[in-house]
Amino acid sequence: MSADAPNPDAMRLETARRAAEEAGRLARRFFENREALLIEAKGPQDLVSAADREVEELIRREIARDFLEDRVLGEEFGTGGAGDSEAGGDGATGWVVDPIDGTQNFLRGIPQFVVSIAYREAGEARVGVIHDPNAGETFWATVGGGAFRDGTAIRVTEAARLEEAVIGVGHSPRHAPEVFNRTITALIDAGAQTRNYCCAAIQLAYVADGRLDATWDPYLLDWDVAAGMLIVREAGGDGVPFRPGRKGPHADTLIAGTPGLLEQFRSRTRMFDD
Ligand code: IPD
Ligand code: CA
Ligand code: CA
Repeated sequence: MSADAPNPDAMRLETARRAAEEAGRLARRFFENREALLIEAKGPQDLVSAADREVEELIRREIARDFLEDRVLGEEFGTGGAGDSEAGGDGATGWVVDPIDGTQNFLRGIPQFVVSIAYREAGEARVGVIHDPNAGETFWATVGGGAFRDGTAIRVTEAARLEEAVIGVGHSPRHAPEVFNRTITALIDAGAQTRNYCCAAIQLAYVADGRLDATWDPYLLDWDVAAGMLIVREAGGDGVPFRPGRKGPHADTLIAGTPGLLEQFRSRTRMFDD
């Protein structure tokens, strides 16, 4: 590519940031009037409302304005072209969207939810954006371009020992309670502190920004992690490879954090013994 040729990652980053910030404004409007929302259950402890769907539709429209041919995998409408919500494709190349990560918080009036948008090629994220409309913060990364919060470069911490670490955790009713209990017990035994913001994407952004040292969740899906994992890696962190299809459509255990913590985490918590 010549120096003057438009850089596709930079172009998609602009689109993703604009879409995420527009989406955040819409999510905030729904949040302020959430008593008017009809809440539906997709499964146990898995709620959804028109807010999730309308925010995803807005993001799809924003992507389609710039990249009409791109495919989009979104939590609420599955896979399709940017301009539609028809099924098709496997999501390995295209956009990956979680319109509201932290829906439980959102519906309960807890201001801890974010918009997460990634663009992947052959399963590898090239662009990732996480926007927190309540804090007014946007985290982003492109492959090889570093990680940022509102234009400031960010980095993971130097933490290398569990006894000095603060670790994000997640819990899902889709996973055996024993896995959660065993992991939390091992972390506390090792002297770590834990935090659960009930929002996988913000926990990844916080790892990238050095607010957490690592984050773990036994069951996440592509749209929970696609943007955040890239941001963590570009901030100098790492993660256990997200293995598509392990327990269902792209569901997997996630551990991401400082390189020094990852090996300790795995050996001390027996996280893959389940
Ligand atoms: C959920 C959140 C939560 C995680 C759940 C996810 P949603 O996403 O990221 O932190 O533990 O497994 O489903 O439903 O709020 O988009
Ligand atoms: Ca999510
Ligand atoms: Ca969601």
